[in-house]
Amino acid sequence: MLICQKHLFSLDPEVSYLNNAYRGPILKSSEEAALKDLYQMRNPFTQKSEDFFTTVSRVKEIFSAMVGSDAQDIALIPSTSYGFAAALSNWKPGPGKKAITVQDEFPSGYFSLKRWVEENKGELQIIGPDFEAKNRGKSWNERLLESIDTSTGVVLISSVHWMNGVKFDLEAIGQRCAEVGACFIVDGTQSVGAMPIDVKAAKIDALIVASYKWLLGPYSLGLSFFGEKFHDGKPLEESWMNRTNSHIFSELTNYQEEFLPGANRFNVGETSYFILLPMLAKALEQLMAWTPGGIQDYAASLKSELVNFQRERGLGLEMGAYASNHLFGLPLPEGSDPKEIKAKLEAEKVYVSVRGQSLRVSINVYNEARDLERLMGILLT
Ligand SMILES: Cc1ncc(COP(=O)(O)O)c(C=O)c1O
Repeated sequence: MLICQKHLFSLDPEVSYLNNAYRGPILKSSEEAALKDLYQMRNPFTQKSEDFFTTVSRVKEIFSAMVGSDAQDIALIPSTSYGFAAALSNWKPGPGKKAITVQDEFPSGYFSLKRWVEENKGELQIIGPDFEAKNRGKSWNERLLESIDTSTGVVLISSVHWMNGVKFDLEAIGQRCAEVGACFIVDGTQSVGAMPIDVKAAKIDALIVASYKWLLGPYSLGLSFFGEKFHDGKPLEESWMNRTNSHIFSELTNYQEEFLPGANRFNVGETSYFILLPMLAKALEQLMAWTPGGIQDYAASLKSELVNFQRERGLGLEMGAYASNHLFGLPLPEGSDPKEIKAKLEAEKVYVSVRGQSLRVSINVYNEARDLERLMGILLT
């Protein structure tokens, strides 16, 4: 079992930061990597042509190991919406197909799917849980699976719901999509890094992940996996860097039509992302050393006290055992004002989010039992 890793971050020691789902803090090693790249910009002549590609390759290598794909199937993207647009603009199964997502899906995914529906003259189906069910998380997964049939063109969901942490059974959903010929697109922003995922086992066609949460990366940079369905696709833009001769700077105008293999055609232009990409590389290295499963177990150990606390108050957790350990919703006593409680917590330097009528709590390796004790102590006042 991991122990608290707070010493590897520059987080304010007085703060109990239980809000990684909002934005992850950066590692000290990422700070150093960013500064190194920044200082190198003082002397551009020290930058070799290969420097434009080496960190890109390293990041793809580590991320592909994290999600169970080949490195060439990974593309760098600036945001999740870019990734969704690249995937959905290349998926045309014919008019009139159904697109499925879940209730309260994050807006970048929702609007991308809505546009696909309009352009493909399809129908948008939004699946929510059965609010009367004893186990809402279970009912939500069952309803989702039941909704996928031969009229389904695409399913776009988050691996873990951003508001309440419910886990969707990716392997069962991917299997069903494969059976009916639907495209399976997953937004991994709220789980990848902190929870294991295997794109092949789950038959995922495209996995889209912003890096500034559980990948502990910088803002404006994300990572994506594109499976075989997309390998002949049309990228959103024409970057010189994605063609087969891009490494030979003296011959760039010997225009090469051929793209680099796999998902490389979907890399955003100016892929090298100096400063930002070395930060992400350090974070990915560290995450792989901790392992996503190790982070999930560590979060579970801290969450257990909170589960007891909620049980004693007769409140439970939103989605019960179907919620992830690193992100979950904490229902509040009837009549309480979540925004007021959040303000009270912040006055004591405890940070969480409000989503609907619950607090959204997220736990990572820099947290310790004391953070949860502070949260519970203030909730009792
Ligand atoms: C599930 C999910 N997807 C995407 C995002 C944001 O991604 P981007 O800023 O790249 O659109 C968030 C942010 O909260 C999120 O929770």
